[in-house]
Amino acid sequence: MSLAGDGIEVWVGDITRLEVDAIVNAANESLLGGGGVDGAIHRAAGPELLEECRGLGGCPTGDAKLTKGYRLAARFVIHTVGPIWHGGTAGEEDLLRSCYRRSLELAIECGAASVAFPAISTGVYGYPKDEAARIALEEVRAFRAAHPDGPRVVLCFFSEEDGARMRRILEEASA
Ligand code: AR6
Repeated sequence: MSLAGDGIEVWVGDITRLEVDAIVNAANESLLGGGGVDGAIHRAAGPELLEECRGLGGCPTGDAKLTKGYRLAARFVIHTVGPIWHGGTAGEEDLLRSCYRRSLELAIECGAASVAFPAISTGVYGYPKDEAARIALEEVRAFRAAHPDGPRVVLCFFSEEDGARMRRILEEASA
């Protein structure tokens, strides 16, 4: 665990194992499951999660929806839909920023004291990882500045390499 200050932490590992109040899922517009972190969250939460998701009617890209966490340690799952990378000229950046903002708004609404994010859109959806990490950090920092009593935020990376990337970006940002 490394501290990015201001209630933001960087953590490397499986997000489904984290003992936080809410975890964010990098879902698709159907909200009916998939691979990557989405598949891992559904497997760990159990079939009740898919049942609740069926009733949500999907989610537009850039938005987020809330469910319970079922068998996860987390009480809530915030499902957000990141943009598919099309080269950067299709509004991807605004949509990715919106995912972080909407997810953080829902974390406040459900009263979460802590929320963990995966690196939204950086797997199957192909968003360049450096850019995505900078956007995540900017949005989370802006949110924490506006809501000092809001939830503590964990940025969760699935590989040491991705965690090291975020630590480097943090160092650059504070240099
Ligand atoms: N814990 C933390 N991070 C993880 C985990 C995990 N258990 N598993 C993967 N990651 P992706 P996307 C990281 O592909 O790009 C799904 O099929 C992974 O290393 O899961 O937003 C959905 O249903 C990567 O950095 O999500 C959608 O169809 C990051 O999570 C589509 O994929 C995101 O990778 C969404 O694509």
